[in-house]
Amino acid sequence: MSTNPDIRLWDQAAERYAQQSGGADDSFYRRLSPFLWSSLGELNGRRVLDLGCGHGWLAERLRLAGATVAGVDGSEALLRHASTAYPDVQFTAHDLTEGLPPSGVRFHGVVAHMVLMDLPELAPLIADVRACLEPGGVFVFSILHPSFFAQAPVEDAATGERYRKVTGYLNHERRWITTFGGHHHYHRPLSWYVDLLARNGLAVTGLHEPPTLPPHLGAEAERTDYERWFAGIPTMLAVACRPAAT
Ligand SMILES: C[S@@+](CC[C@H](N)C(=O)[O-])C[C@H]1O[C@@H](n2cnc3c(N)ncnc32)[C@H](O)[C@@H]1O
Repeated sequence: MSTNPDIRLWDQAAERYAQQSGGADDSFYRRLSPFLWSSLGELNGRRVLDLGCGHGWLAERLRLAGATVAGVDGSEALLRHASTAYPDVQFTAHDLTEGLPPSGVRFHGVVAHMVLMDLPELAPLIADVRACLEPGGVFVFSILHPSFFAQAPVEDAATGERYRKVTGYLNHERRWITTFGGHHHYHRPLSWYVDLLARNGLAVTGLHEPPTLPPHLGAEAERTDYERWFAGIPTMLAVACRPAAT
């Protein structure tokens, strides 16, 4: 079992997380999906690495798209689900705050869906991601939107006006997220991520800010007035980046 307290929290959350998240209907995946697949391009015969792969559902989708897939996650409890459900993906337990597990393998695509904001230290990982990308490869990650996710929705009782109250955006903060039993979230402003990528020779080639979807599937016309307002401020974003020209 990991000695990293953040990973231990994910071990404790594993059962609930594996049951309640991921898959085609998952609200975050529905928002990411078009951007992810168009950024990755053709995957047949290519190698893809799924960072923070959790219970492995996205790694399996990448494999079904033709890729040879490796998944890495710190939570052994989540990886037990992954290995049982998806035996054709190679899963490795590893603490990503230390960077990638050493392997020398290079990848066409590296994916990290809803992971980087859960890691307090990213410098070794981003350096390793750059080093393991093939020429022309792409790193696609999604995170909770630093500008809006944690900013409280407010409804002014007097005017009926709705807004998100943005405070402390530039501060780096550790926050507690209660979902799935609880885990830590490390807030950093968007410019911090872009600077980190640039310092490691990765150029942003795509930025995706999808409308916030309600958790249920359903037609646009069935959404409530509040859900339509909520959709207009993105709570997640995704970034595609590629080795910068030298
Ligand atoms: C929000 S979940 C996302 C999982 C998966 N990508 C998905 O979309 O379902 C965050 C993942 O990061 C993993 N994680 C958190 N801290 C980690 C660390 N230090 N090293 C490796 N994995 C970590 C957790 O175990 C968990 O699987």
